[in-house]
Order: sequence, then C-alpha cells, then structure tokens
Amino acid sequence: QKAIGIMTSGGDAPGMDACVRAVVRTAISKGCRAYAIMEGYEGLVRGGPEYIKEFGWDDVRGWSSLGGTDIGTARCMEFKQREGRLKGAQHMIEAGIDALIVCGGDGSLTGADLFRSEWPSLLQELLETRRITEQQFTRYKHLNICGTVGSIDNDMSTTDATIGAYSALDRICTAIDYVEATANSHSRAFVVEVMGRNCGWLALLAGISTSADYILIPEKPSSSREWEEQMSSIVTKHRKRGKRTTIVIVAEGAIANDLTPITSKDVHKVLSEKLGLDTRITTLGHVQRGGSPVAYDRILATLQGVEAVNAVLDSGPDTPSPLIAVNENKITRKSLVESVKLTKSVAEAIHSKDFKKAMALRDTEFVE
Ligand code: F6P
Repeated sequence: QKAIGIMTSGGDAPGMDACVRAVVRTAISKGCRAYAIMEGYEGLVRGGPEYIKEFGWDDVRGWSSLGGTDIGTARCMEFKQREGRLKGAQHMIEAGIDALIVCGGDGSLTGADLFRSEWPSLLQELLETRRITEQQFTRYKHLNICGTVGSIDNDMSTTDATIGAYSALDRICTAIDYVEATANSHSRAFVVEVMGRNCGWLALLAGISTSADYILIPEKPSSSREWEEQMSSIVTKHRKRGKRTTIVIVAEGAIANDLTPITSKDVHKVLSEKLGLDTRITTLGHVQRGGSPVAYDRILATLQGVEAVNAVLDSGPDTPSPLIAVNENKITRKSLVESVKLTKSVAEAIHSKDFKKAMALRDTEFVE
C-alpha cells in the first residue's frame, strides 16, 4: 500500500482545499494511504505526527467550497537550506511516504524541483550519518514528486491557469465595481493596486473585465514619460466624453523600462497634480486571496488533484516529475523541471529588459 503526501505551500489560494480533498479521496479510493503535511515545507522540516497526519475520507468533507488552505501553509526559510531539506527527507521516510504532491506557486514548485534533484545525495547523506537504514535507502531511492499550481498570481509557465487565480480575479472585479460606484458619485479618479508579484495577469484581466481607463503591468513597461503622457491623454479624452470616473489599475510589480518600480503614488501624482483630478488610492491587499473559490477553481483543483494522484501512481524510477497543468481546457501533464525553468526565464527576460520575450513567454501577446 503506497502512502501519498499532500502539502500546500507559499501564499494560500482559493481552491487549495479542494485540491487537498481530491488528492486525499483519490488516493484512498485507489487503495493508498493519504497524508497531509501541515504548514507546507515547515511541516516536512519539523516532522512527526503533529505535522505529518494521516487523513481519512471524512477529514476533507465539505472542503471543495472552502477558501484558503486548512492544512496550513508557510514560506519556509529553513527548507531553502540543504540542512532543512535533509530533515524533510528524513521525516518523509520516517512517515513512510512514497510520493509527495505539492500544491503551490512557482517558488514552492522550484523548491520541490530542487528537493527532487537533490534526493539521491540527501539519501546518501542520511545513510552515511545513520539517520536511515539500508532498507529505507533502497525502498525510498526515487522521490516521486508532483506539482499542482496553486497561486492567485497565475505566473507559472506551461499552464493556462493556476488554482485560485480566477477567484482572485473575481474578487478584484467585485471590488472595482464597488469603487466605480463611489468614484462616479464624486466624479473621482481611483488608482487600484492589485497583487500578482512580478506578473501582470490579475491587473490585465481585471482591467479588461472592468473596462479600466489604464493598466500598468510589469510585462509591458515604457519610460516614465511615455506612460505618463499616454495615461494622461487617454484619461483626458475619456473625461471630455463625459466620463465621471477614472480607474487606473496598477500591478504591484509594475515597472518602467529602466526597471524602476511604478507605484500607486506615482500614478496618483500624475492624476491629481497634472490632470487635477480628485484622486484616491485603493490597495486591495489580502482581500484578493480570501473567500470561497469560484466554481472554475473548484473544478480545476479537483481535476488536478485527481490527475496528480494518477501521475504519481503511473511514475516509474525514470519518469520525470510531472506538473499538472491545464491547456486549452484539458488537464495535462508537463515536466516540472521544464515548467520551473521556463517560469524563471520570464523573470530573467524582464531583468535583462527583453520585454518582448517576457510577453511571448507569458503568452500575453493580446496586450498589444
Ligand atoms: O504569491 C501570492 C501573493 O499574494 C502575491 O500576489 C503577493 O505579492 C504576495 O503573495 C504577498 O505575500 P504575503 O501574503 O506573504 O504578504
């Protein structure tokens, strides 16, 4: 009987609980034992029954509709060090876990990929320092690891959507609709800052959905003068047509083409000082990550959780670790290593100011 572990890691995202539920129930229905690793990689590093808990069918009842993650998550510094990963490997083996499914964002899956690539040397060291037996060394020789992407940012290459992104988008649109009403009453301008780290997907899609006047995202930077002039001329044109509201959406990672950040305050300054508009800043913050998952995220998380269990059960010693993705509405298996590599290359393209490449890698040509 195989034992499958599931953990959620990095920033929580609506739909993570639905993914845990699907993994636990699929594992059990396929004759495996299911374990929840509590508090992300932190739980692996700490180990023991408090952090590595066997879950039964009933433990995840009703979890499809829950927001956040009920098995906890953390951004674990210790796991970034080899000693932390060594402890993690030891605790996994002690708990008898054969395969690990990680639901997290690009940082968490980069961690999973590192864990996988180091596994043989971690095991060797555990054996040499007598922390595991010869028998355990042979039994757990290959780490079976699989990623499902849970993040509101939708910043992972090779998948069209990450679990939680559409829920966050829905929350942002609702909030902007509210802001629109008060903006209209006072004929005001609002700068709305949204999350997304270095990715502009949330800002871009929210802007299109709410027909914002202007959107600033990291993937399409321009010089300070350019964006200021373009935004001013668009806003002025809209105001001349009788529009009483101005909504500018700024991704938290927005940058100018010299890589300096563009902040909500910068945008506020142009709207109020240059255009003379009565302007307010609304930073949506963690409201974007909260609440129940929308139906799409429940379905995506469930289908991906099922597929993740299938993938680890299909994996042999030479199978590359999979990442469960969605492409054109189909659940697919991608290579975890390749996906992580491609995601990193977006950040590298932005840092080397190759914005065209960054856009192409993000598959956001339609911004043009
Ligand atoms: O990665 C998800 C995310 O919500 C980002 O959009 C944001 O930059 C970050 O996490 C916030 O992190 P924290 O919750 O640790 O403040």
